[in-house]
Amino acid sequence: MPIRINPSILSADFANLERELGRISTADLVHVDVMDNHFVPNLTFGQQMVRRLGEISALPLDVHLMIDDPDRWAPEFAETGAYSVTFHAEAAADAVALARRLRSIGARAGIALKPGTPAEPFLEILDEFDQVLVMTVEPGFGGQEFMESTMPKLRALRERVSGAALDVWLQVDGGINERTIAIAADAGADTFVAGSSVFLSDDPLDRIASLHAAASASAHAH
Ligand code: DX5
Ligand code: ZN
Repeated sequence: MPIRINPSILSADFANLERELGRISTADLVHVDVMDNHFVPNLTFGQQMVRRLGEISALPLDVHLMIDDPDRWAPEFAETGAYSVTFHAEAAADAVALARRLRSIGARAGIALKPGTPAEPFLEILDEFDQVLVMTVEPGFGGQEFMESTMPKLRALRERVSGAALDVWLQVDGGINERTIAIAADAGADTFVAGSSVFLSDDPLDRIASLHAAASASAHAH
């Protein structure tokens, strides 16, 4: 199973984003956290910023929308050319219709689940999505502690994805470091968002390599 490490620029220097992207050249995708100050109590980037980041980034963008009314706004993010657009299940009125719309625009469609949101309603319709993001912290801020209590949900998703041989990436986001990435990989994640552990490091490339190695060593990765 391929392992992907997606650094989150939420912990990067916002005044030097082009330079910060240059520090993570061995990553797989760049995770971009869009927050609207309503769905979460924090505010980050809009469509214009995402479009411009996509133009200067050598790596594809993995856009995580922590916003209300994604049915209305997510297509605009897909139209920026983002490689993948992930919206929250808790915020979407019609998740399947929205995912189909994102795919029709040309983006991979992702659905994100907060720690308290169960996966069951989605297990039978996983083929409508290209990625499921299991939040391993409450969304809103970087630098929080990984919640191991979310791992049974991840295992249920992995069982279904592998059992039905679906091409759906299972992503974890929040509190990922060399210790917790092994726990998440063992529970079935293949795509790992890491913000503070990569960008607050003096050597992000070394950090990406050690995260990759720790994930690859887990049972599921073989
Ligand atoms: C949190 C964001 C995360 C955040 C992760 O709401 O969705 O992507 O950047 O940061 P760390 O890795 O520091 O927990
Ligand atoms: Zn995120």
